[in-house]
Amino acid sequence: MKQKTKTIGLYLHIPFCRFLCHYCDFVKTARWTGEFVDSYFSALQSHLDFWIKTFLIPEGYMFGSVFVGGGTPSLFTKEYENIFSLLEPFLAEGAEITLEANPDNMSEENLCFWKSLGFNRISCGVQSFSSAGLEALTRKHKASEVPLAYERARKYFDSINLDLIYGWNGQTLGDWEKELSQLKQLSPDHASLYLLTYAPGTPLGRAHERGKLQASSDQTLESFYEMARSSLADGGYDHEEVSNWSKGGKNCRHNWLYWQDQYYLAVGAGACGYLPSRKTPFGLRYQYTGREKNFCNQKLPEEWMSWDGKSEQLGDHFQVEERSPSIWLLEYIGAGLRSSRGVDLELIQKKAAYVYKSTSFLEEAVKENCLRQEGSRLLLSEREWFRESSWCLKVFDAFSKEL
Ligand SMILES: C[S@@+](CC[C@H](N)C(=O)[O-])C[C@H]1O[C@@H](n2cnc3c(N)ncnc32)[C@H](O)[C@@H]1O
Ligand code: SF4
Repeated sequence: MKQKTKTIGLYLHIPFCRFLCHYCDFVKTARWTGEFVDSYFSALQSHLDFWIKTFLIPEGYMFGSVFVGGGTPSLFTKEYENIFSLLEPFLAEGAEITLEANPDNMSEENLCFWKSLGFNRISCGVQSFSSAGLEALTRKHKASEVPLAYERARKYFDSINLDLIYGWNGQTLGDWEKELSQLKQLSPDHASLYLLTYAPGTPLGRAHERGKLQASSDQTLESFYEMARSSLADGGYDHEEVSNWSKGGKNCRHNWLYWQDQYYLAVGAGACGYLPSRKTPFGLRYQYTGREKNFCNQKLPEEWMSWDGKSEQLGDHFQVEERSPSIWLLEYIGAGLRSSRGVDLELIQKKAAYVYKSTSFLEEAVKENCLRQEGSRLLLSEREWFRESSWCLKVFDAFSKEL
Protein backbone atom coordinates (compact mmCIF):
# COMPACT_ATOMS: atom_id res chain seq x y z
CA MET A 1 0.00 0.00 0.00
CA LYS A 2 1.28 3.51 -0.90
CA GLN A 3 2.27 5.39 2.24
CA LYS A 4 0.64 8.80 2.71
CA THR A 5 3.18 11.66 2.98
CA LYS A 6 3.32 13.26 6.41
CA THR A 7 2.91 17.00 5.94
CA ILE A 8 3.74 20.01 8.07
CA GLY A 9 3.33 23.78 7.59
CA LEU A 10 6.01 26.42 7.21
CA TYR A 11 5.77 30.09 8.20
CA LEU A 12 8.44 32.52 7.00
CA HIS A 13 8.51 36.02 8.49
CA ILE A 14 9.62 39.01 6.39
CA PRO A 15 9.71 42.02 8.72
CA PHE A 16 10.27 44.92 6.30
CA CYS A 17 7.65 47.63 5.70
CA ARG A 18 7.67 50.99 3.91
CA PHE A 19 5.65 52.62 6.67
CA LEU A 20 4.55 51.37 10.08
CA CYS A 21 0.76 51.42 10.28
CA HIS A 22 -0.39 52.86 13.60
CA TYR A 23 -2.39 49.80 14.68
CA CYS A 24 0.17 47.11 13.93
CA ASP A 25 2.20 45.25 16.57
CA PHE A 26 3.74 42.56 14.37
CA VAL A 27 7.56 42.25 14.32
CA LYS A 28 8.52 44.77 11.65
CA THR A 29 10.78 47.66 10.77
CA ALA A 30 10.67 50.56 8.32
CA ARG A 31 14.43 51.22 8.73
CA TRP A 32 16.18 48.99 6.26
CA THR A 33 18.67 49.02 3.44
CA GLY A 34 19.37 46.56 0.63
CA GLU A 35 22.28 45.19 2.65
CA PHE A 36 20.08 44.54 5.69
CA VAL A 37 17.52 42.77 3.50
CA ASP A 38 20.24 40.60 1.87
CA SER A 39 21.62 39.57 5.23
CA TYR A 40 18.11 38.82 6.56
CA PHE A 41 17.24 36.63 3.56
CA SER A 42 20.55 34.85 3.84
CA ALA A 43 19.89 34.10 7.55
CA LEU A 44 16.40 32.92 6.62
CA GLN A 45 17.92 30.52 4.13
CA SER A 46 20.49 29.12 6.62
CA HIS A 47 17.87 28.62 9.34
CA LEU A 48 15.44 27.00 6.92
CA ASP A 49 18.20 24.70 5.70
CA PHE A 50 18.94 23.81 9.34
CA TRP A 51 15.31 22.84 10.04
CA ILE A 52 15.09 20.83 6.83
CA LYS A 53 18.22 18.86 7.69
CA THR A 54 17.63 18.38 11.40
CA PHE A 55 13.88 17.95 11.48
CA LEU A 56 12.06 17.65 8.17
CA ILE A 57 14.24 14.99 6.53
CA PRO A 58 14.89 12.79 9.61
CA GLU A 59 11.19 12.86 10.59
CA GLY A 60 10.01 12.21 7.02
CA TYR A 61 7.82 15.30 6.56
CA MET A 62 7.03 17.37 3.45
CA PHE A 63 5.64 20.92 3.44
CA GLY A 64 1.86 20.84 2.87
CA SER A 65 1.56 24.61 3.19
CA VAL A 66 3.94 27.56 3.20
CA PHE A 67 2.88 31.02 4.36
CA VAL A 68 5.19 33.99 3.78
CA GLY A 69 3.92 36.74 6.07
CA GLY A 70 5.15 39.98 7.51
CA GLY A 71 5.82 42.78 7.60
CA THR A 72 5.43 43.32 3.88
CA PRO A 73 6.73 40.28 2.00
CA SER A 74 5.40 41.75 -1.27
CA LEU A 75 8.23 44.33 -1.26
CA PHE A 76 10.42 41.53 -2.66
CA THR A 77 10.62 39.32 -5.72
CA LYS A 78 14.01 37.85 -6.71
CA GLU A 79 14.98 37.63 -3.04
CA TYR A 80 12.75 34.51 -2.83
CA GLU A 81 14.59 32.56 -5.54
CA ASN A 82 17.07 30.86 -3.20
CA ILE A 83 14.34 30.07 -0.68
CA PHE A 84 12.29 28.36 -3.40
CA SER A 85 15.32 26.37 -4.61
CA LEU A 86 15.72 25.11 -1.06
CA LEU A 87 12.02 24.36 -0.61
CA GLU A 88 11.15 22.76 -3.93
CA PRO A 89 12.30 19.19 -3.17
CA PHE A 90 10.27 19.25 0.04
CA LEU A 91 6.93 20.57 -1.22
CA ALA A 92 4.13 18.02 -1.02
CA GLU A 93 2.02 17.61 -4.13
CA GLY A 94 -0.48 20.49 -4.38
CA ALA A 95 1.14 22.39 -1.49
CA GLU A 96 -0.55 25.72 -0.74
CA ILE A 97 2.02 28.55 -0.98
CA THR A 98 0.75 31.94 0.15
CA LEU A 99 2.34 35.36 -0.15
CA GLU A 100 0.98 38.21 1.96
CA ALA A 101 0.80 41.24 -0.34
CA ASN A 102 -0.03 44.92 0.04
CA PRO A 103 -2.20 46.34 -2.80
CA ASP A 104 0.42 48.91 -3.80
CA ASN A 105 2.98 46.17 -4.55
CA MET A 106 0.66 44.11 -6.75
CA SER A 107 1.95 45.22 -10.15
CA GLU A 108 1.52 42.97 -13.19
CA GLU A 109 5.26 42.32 -13.20
CA ASN A 110 5.45 41.34 -9.52
CA LEU A 111 2.37 39.12 -9.68
CA CYS A 112 3.72 37.34 -12.73
CA PHE A 113 7.09 36.81 -11.05
CA TRP A 114 5.60 35.48 -7.78
CA LYS A 115 3.46 33.07 -9.75
CA SER A 116 6.48 31.86 -11.76
CA LEU A 117 8.38 31.23 -8.52
CA GLY A 118 5.66 28.91 -7.22
CA PHE A 119 3.37 31.05 -5.06
CA ASN A 120 -0.21 29.91 -5.71
CA ARG A 121 -2.20 32.01 -3.22
CA ILE A 122 -2.24 35.75 -2.47
CA SER A 123 -3.41 37.21 0.81
CA CYS A 124 -3.96 40.91 0.21
CA GLY A 125 -4.10 43.49 3.02
CA VAL A 126 -6.96 45.70 1.85
CA GLN A 127 -7.98 46.72 5.42
CA SER A 128 -10.70 49.07 4.13
CA PHE A 129 -12.40 49.89 0.83
CA SER A 130 -13.07 53.47 1.95
CA SER A 131 -10.73 56.46 2.05
CA ALA A 132 -12.00 57.28 5.57
CA GLY A 133 -11.13 53.75 6.75
CA LEU A 134 -7.69 53.80 5.15
CA GLU A 135 -7.03 57.16 6.75
CA ALA A 136 -8.23 56.07 10.20
CA LEU A 137 -5.97 53.03 9.92
CA THR A 138 -3.08 55.15 8.54
CA ARG A 139 -2.75 52.98 5.43
CA LYS A 140 -0.76 54.39 2.54
CA HIS A 141 -2.55 52.89 -0.45
CA LYS A 142 -5.57 54.53 -2.09
CA ALA A 143 -9.05 53.00 -2.02
CA SER A 144 -9.15 53.17 -5.83
CA GLU A 145 -6.02 50.96 -6.09
CA VAL A 146 -7.68 47.94 -4.46
CA PRO A 147 -10.09 46.74 -7.19
CA LEU A 148 -7.39 47.24 -9.83
CA ALA A 149 -4.81 45.27 -7.84
CA TYR A 150 -7.38 42.55 -7.23
CA GLU A 151 -8.30 42.24 -10.93
CA ARG A 152 -4.61 42.03 -11.86
CA ALA A 153 -4.05 39.31 -9.23
CA ARG A 154 -7.02 37.36 -10.60
CA LYS A 155 -5.19 36.87 -13.90
CA TYR A 156 -2.46 34.92 -12.13
CA PHE A 157 -3.97 33.46 -8.97
CA ASP A 158 -7.10 31.39 -8.51
CA SER A 159 -6.91 31.55 -4.74
CA ILE A 160 -7.07 35.02 -3.23
CA ASN A 161 -7.75 36.22 0.30
CA LEU A 162 -8.61 39.80 1.26
CA ASP A 163 -7.99 41.13 4.79
CA LEU A 164 -10.29 43.82 6.19
CA ILE A 165 -10.24 45.51 9.60
CA TYR A 166 -13.51 46.67 11.19
CA GLY A 167 -14.38 48.74 14.26
CA TRP A 168 -12.05 51.65 13.38
CA ASN A 169 -12.70 55.07 14.84
CA GLY A 170 -15.74 56.66 13.20
CA GLN A 171 -16.88 53.57 11.27
CA THR A 172 -20.66 53.19 11.27
CA LEU A 173 -22.72 50.07 10.62
CA GLY A 174 -23.77 51.68 7.34
CA ASP A 175 -20.07 52.06 6.35
CA TRP A 176 -19.45 48.43 7.23
CA GLU A 177 -22.42 47.24 5.21
CA LYS A 178 -21.03 49.09 2.19
CA GLU A 179 -17.55 47.57 2.70
CA LEU A 180 -19.04 44.08 2.92
CA SER A 181 -20.92 44.58 -0.30
CA GLN A 182 -17.75 45.87 -2.03
CA LEU A 183 -15.97 42.77 -0.78
CA LYS A 184 -18.67 40.48 -2.19
CA GLN A 185 -18.59 42.34 -5.49
CA LEU A 186 -14.91 41.48 -5.90
CA SER A 187 -15.74 37.93 -4.80
CA PRO A 188 -12.44 36.72 -3.32
CA ASP A 189 -12.17 33.01 -2.48
CA HIS A 190 -11.39 33.85 1.11
CA ALA A 191 -11.93 36.81 3.44
CA SER A 192 -10.34 37.57 6.81
CA LEU A 193 -12.27 40.22 8.74
CA TYR A 194 -10.47 41.34 11.88
CA LEU A 195 -11.88 43.46 14.66
CA LEU A 196 -9.41 46.32 15.28
CA THR A 197 -7.26 45.63 18.34
CA TYR A 198 -5.81 48.64 20.12
CA ALA A 199 -2.50 46.88 20.69
CA PRO A 200 -0.46 48.31 23.59
CA GLY A 201 2.67 50.14 22.43
CA THR A 202 1.24 51.05 19.00
CA PRO A 203 0.29 54.69 18.27
CA LEU A 204 -3.42 53.77 18.13
CA GLY A 205 -3.06 51.70 21.31
CA ARG A 206 -1.49 54.67 23.13
CA ALA A 207 -4.15 57.07 21.87
CA HIS A 208 -6.76 54.65 23.15
CA GLU A 209 -5.06 54.37 26.57
CA ARG A 210 -4.96 58.16 26.87
CA GLY A 211 -8.67 58.31 26.10
CA LYS A 212 -8.11 60.11 22.77
CA LEU A 213 -9.71 57.26 20.85
CA GLN A 214 -12.76 55.47 22.13
CA ALA A 215 -13.42 51.87 21.15
CA SER A 216 -17.06 51.18 20.28
CA SER A 217 -19.13 49.37 22.89
CA ASP A 218 -19.11 45.54 22.91
CA GLN A 219 -22.70 45.65 21.74
CA THR A 220 -21.84 47.79 18.70
CA LEU A 221 -18.86 45.59 17.84
CA GLU A 222 -21.05 42.52 18.07
CA SER A 223 -23.44 44.16 15.60
CA PHE A 224 -20.50 44.57 13.18
CA TYR A 225 -19.70 40.88 13.62
CA GLU A 226 -23.34 39.85 13.12
CA MET A 227 -23.58 41.99 10.00
CA ALA A 228 -20.47 40.30 8.58
CA ARG A 229 -21.89 36.87 9.37
CA SER A 230 -25.19 37.43 7.65
CA SER A 231 -23.79 39.39 4.70
CA LEU A 232 -21.13 36.80 3.88
CA ALA A 233 -23.56 33.92 4.36
CA ASP A 234 -25.81 35.65 1.78
CA GLY A 235 -22.77 35.88 -0.49
CA GLY A 236 -22.27 32.10 -0.33
CA TYR A 237 -19.32 32.13 2.06
CA ASP A 238 -18.73 29.45 4.71
CA HIS A 239 -17.80 30.78 8.11
CA GLU A 240 -14.73 28.78 9.14
CA GLU A 241 -13.41 30.66 12.12
CA VAL A 242 -14.34 33.80 14.03
CA SER A 243 -12.42 36.03 11.55
CA ASN A 244 -12.29 33.82 8.44
CA TRP A 245 -14.69 32.95 5.64
CA SER A 246 -14.21 31.07 2.37
CA LYS A 247 -16.23 29.90 -0.59
CA GLY A 248 -15.99 27.14 -3.15
CA GLY A 249 -13.99 25.05 -0.67
CA LYS A 250 -11.02 27.44 -1.02
CA ASN A 251 -10.17 27.54 2.63
CA CYS A 252 -6.70 28.42 3.89
CA ARG A 253 -5.02 25.11 4.62
CA HIS A 254 -2.29 26.86 6.57
CA ASN A 255 -4.78 28.56 8.93
CA TRP A 256 -6.36 25.23 9.73
CA LEU A 257 -3.03 23.98 11.09
CA TYR A 258 -3.21 26.69 13.76
CA TRP A 259 -6.83 25.95 14.63
CA GLN A 260 -6.65 22.15 14.77
CA ASP A 261 -3.49 21.37 16.71
CA GLN A 262 -1.30 20.60 13.69
CA TYR A 263 2.45 21.15 13.50
CA TYR A 264 4.32 23.89 11.66
CA LEU A 265 7.88 25.12 11.38
CA ALA A 266 8.49 28.87 11.55
CA VAL A 267 11.57 30.86 10.64
CA GLY A 268 12.40 34.56 11.00
CA ALA A 269 12.37 37.35 13.60
CA GLY A 270 9.52 36.80 16.06
CA ALA A 271 8.36 33.61 14.30
CA CYS A 272 6.70 30.91 16.46
CA GLY A 273 6.73 27.21 15.54
CA TYR A 274 4.97 24.14 16.94
CA LEU A 275 6.64 20.75 16.59
CA PRO A 276 6.12 17.24 17.91
CA SER A 277 7.98 16.67 21.16
CA ARG A 278 10.23 13.65 21.59
CA LYS A 279 8.91 13.13 25.12
CA THR A 280 5.21 13.91 25.28
CA PRO A 281 2.25 13.95 22.87
CA PHE A 282 1.66 17.65 23.66
CA GLY A 283 4.22 19.13 21.30
CA LEU A 284 6.66 21.92 21.88
CA ARG A 285 6.46 25.55 20.98
CA TYR A 286 9.46 27.61 20.01
CA GLN A 287 9.98 31.25 19.21
CA TYR A 288 12.68 33.37 17.61
CA THR A 289 12.53 36.15 20.19
CA GLY A 290 15.00 38.69 18.77
CA ARG A 291 14.30 41.74 16.63
CA GLU A 292 14.97 41.84 12.89
CA LYS A 293 18.66 42.84 13.24
CA ASN A 294 19.37 40.06 15.77
CA PHE A 295 18.02 37.47 13.39
CA CYS A 296 20.62 38.38 10.74
CA ASN A 297 23.48 37.26 13.02
CA GLN A 298 21.62 34.64 15.01
CA LYS A 299 23.34 31.29 15.57
CA LEU A 300 21.43 28.22 14.38
CA PRO A 301 19.47 26.73 17.30
CA GLU A 302 21.66 23.59 17.28
CA GLU A 303 21.13 22.95 21.02
CA TRP A 304 17.57 22.05 20.06
CA MET A 305 18.79 18.66 18.81
CA SER A 306 20.07 17.56 22.22
CA TRP A 307 17.64 19.64 24.29
CA ASP A 308 16.70 18.12 27.68
CA GLY A 309 13.26 19.75 27.80
CA LYS A 310 14.21 21.84 30.83
CA SER A 311 15.94 25.14 29.98
CA GLU A 312 13.63 27.38 27.98
CA GLN A 313 16.27 29.71 26.56
CA LEU A 314 18.54 28.15 23.94
CA GLY A 315 21.36 30.48 22.89
CA ASP A 316 20.45 34.07 22.20
CA HIS A 317 16.95 34.95 21.05
CA PHE A 318 15.52 31.44 20.86
CA GLN A 319 13.02 29.93 23.30
CA VAL A 320 11.57 26.43 23.47
CA GLU A 321 8.76 25.24 25.70
CA GLU A 322 7.43 21.73 26.26
CA ARG A 323 3.72 21.94 26.93
CA SER A 324 1.94 20.40 29.87
CA PRO A 325 -1.28 18.44 29.23
CA SER A 326 -3.40 21.23 30.74
CA ILE A 327 -1.76 23.97 28.65
CA TRP A 328 -2.19 21.80 25.56
CA LEU A 329 -5.87 21.34 26.37
CA LEU A 330 -6.47 25.03 27.04
CA GLU A 331 -4.82 26.02 23.76
CA TYR A 332 -6.64 23.34 21.79
CA ILE A 333 -10.02 24.43 23.18
CA GLY A 334 -9.13 28.11 22.69
CA ALA A 335 -8.36 27.67 18.98
CA GLY A 336 -10.83 24.88 18.14
CA LEU A 337 -13.98 26.31 19.72
CA ARG A 338 -13.84 29.43 17.58
CA SER A 339 -13.73 27.36 14.40
CA SER A 340 -16.34 25.36 12.50
CA ARG A 341 -14.67 22.05 13.39
CA GLY A 342 -14.80 22.62 17.15
CA VAL A 343 -12.82 20.24 19.38
CA ASP A 344 -12.60 16.47 19.29
CA LEU A 345 -13.46 14.96 22.69
CA GLU A 346 -12.09 11.55 21.69
CA LEU A 347 -8.76 13.06 20.68
CA ILE A 348 -8.57 14.89 24.03
CA GLN A 349 -9.21 11.66 25.93
CA LYS A 350 -6.75 9.65 23.85
CA LYS A 351 -3.99 12.23 23.88
CA ALA A 352 -4.27 13.78 27.34
CA ALA A 353 -6.58 11.42 29.30
CA TYR A 354 -9.01 14.25 30.03
CA VAL A 355 -12.69 13.30 30.11
CA TYR A 356 -15.48 15.76 29.30
CA LYS A 357 -18.42 15.82 31.72
CA SER A 358 -20.95 18.49 30.94
CA THR A 359 -21.78 20.93 33.77
CA SER A 360 -25.24 22.36 34.48
CA PHE A 361 -24.07 25.64 32.90
CA LEU A 362 -23.05 23.84 29.71
CA GLU A 363 -26.28 21.78 29.69
CA GLU A 364 -28.15 25.05 29.69
CA ALA A 365 -25.90 26.30 26.86
CA VAL A 366 -26.85 23.22 24.82
CA LYS A 367 -30.56 23.91 25.42
CA GLU A 368 -30.04 27.48 24.21
CA ASN A 369 -28.23 26.25 21.05
CA CYS A 370 -24.99 27.93 22.05
CA LEU A 371 -23.15 24.62 22.26
CA ARG A 372 -23.72 21.27 20.59
CA GLN A 373 -22.15 17.85 20.33
CA GLU A 374 -21.89 16.08 16.96
CA GLY A 375 -20.39 12.62 17.33
CA SER A 376 -17.17 13.13 19.25
CA ARG A 377 -16.98 16.84 18.39
CA LEU A 378 -18.01 19.68 20.66
CA LEU A 379 -18.98 22.81 18.74
CA LEU A 380 -19.76 26.36 19.75
CA SER A 381 -22.41 28.15 17.70
CA GLU A 382 -21.04 30.77 15.28
CA ARG A 383 -22.82 33.63 17.02
CA GLU A 384 -20.85 32.78 20.19
CA TRP A 385 -17.40 32.65 18.53
CA PHE A 386 -17.15 36.36 19.20
CA ARG A 387 -17.15 35.61 22.96
CA GLU A 388 -15.00 32.51 22.66
CA SER A 389 -12.53 33.32 25.46
CA SER A 390 -15.17 33.15 28.20
CA TRP A 391 -16.60 29.94 26.69
CA CYS A 392 -13.13 28.44 26.53
CA LEU A 393 -12.71 28.63 30.32
CA LYS A 394 -16.21 27.27 30.97
CA VAL A 395 -15.57 24.30 28.66
CA PHE A 396 -12.07 23.75 30.07
CA ASP A 397 -13.57 23.47 33.59
CA ALA A 398 -15.77 20.60 32.39
CA PHE A 399 -12.74 18.37 31.77
CA SER A 400 -11.20 16.21 34.46
CA LYS A 401 -8.31 13.78 34.45
CA GLU A 402 -9.27 10.15 33.81
CA LEU A 403 -8.41 8.05 36.85
C1 LIG B 1 0.93 40.94 9.36
S1 LIG B 1 -0.43 41.84 9.09
C2 LIG B 1 -0.11 42.70 7.62
C3 LIG B 1 0.26 42.13 6.35
C4 LIG B 1 0.54 43.18 5.29
N1 LIG B 1 1.76 43.83 5.56
C5 LIG B 1 -0.50 44.26 5.25
O1 LIG B 1 -0.27 45.31 5.81
O2 LIG B 1 -1.53 44.05 4.65
C6 LIG B 1 -1.68 40.66 8.69
C7 LIG B 1 -3.07 41.19 8.95
O3 LIG B 1 -3.33 41.35 10.32
C8 LIG B 1 -4.34 42.29 10.50
N2 LIG B 1 -3.97 43.15 11.63
C9 LIG B 1 -2.75 43.62 11.94
N3 LIG B 1 -2.80 44.37 13.07
C10 LIG B 1 -4.10 44.38 13.48
C11 LIG B 1 -4.81 44.99 14.57
N4 LIG B 1 -4.19 45.73 15.48
N5 LIG B 1 -6.14 44.75 14.67
C12 LIG B 1 -6.78 43.98 13.76
N6 LIG B 1 -6.17 43.41 12.72
C13 LIG B 1 -4.86 43.61 12.56
C14 LIG B 1 -4.46 43.09 9.20
O4 LIG B 1 -5.70 42.84 8.59
C15 LIG B 1 -3.34 42.55 8.37
O5 LIG B 1 -3.65 42.45 7.00
S1 SF4 C 1 -0.02 46.29 8.78
FE1 SF4 C 1 1.38 45.44 7.28
S2 SF4 C 1 2.32 47.23 6.27
FE2 SF4 C 1 1.35 47.98 8.11
S3 SF4 C 1 3.02 47.94 9.63
FE3 SF4 C 1 1.90 46.01 9.85
S4 SF4 C 1 2.98 44.58 8.60
FE4 SF4 C 1 3.67 46.64 7.96
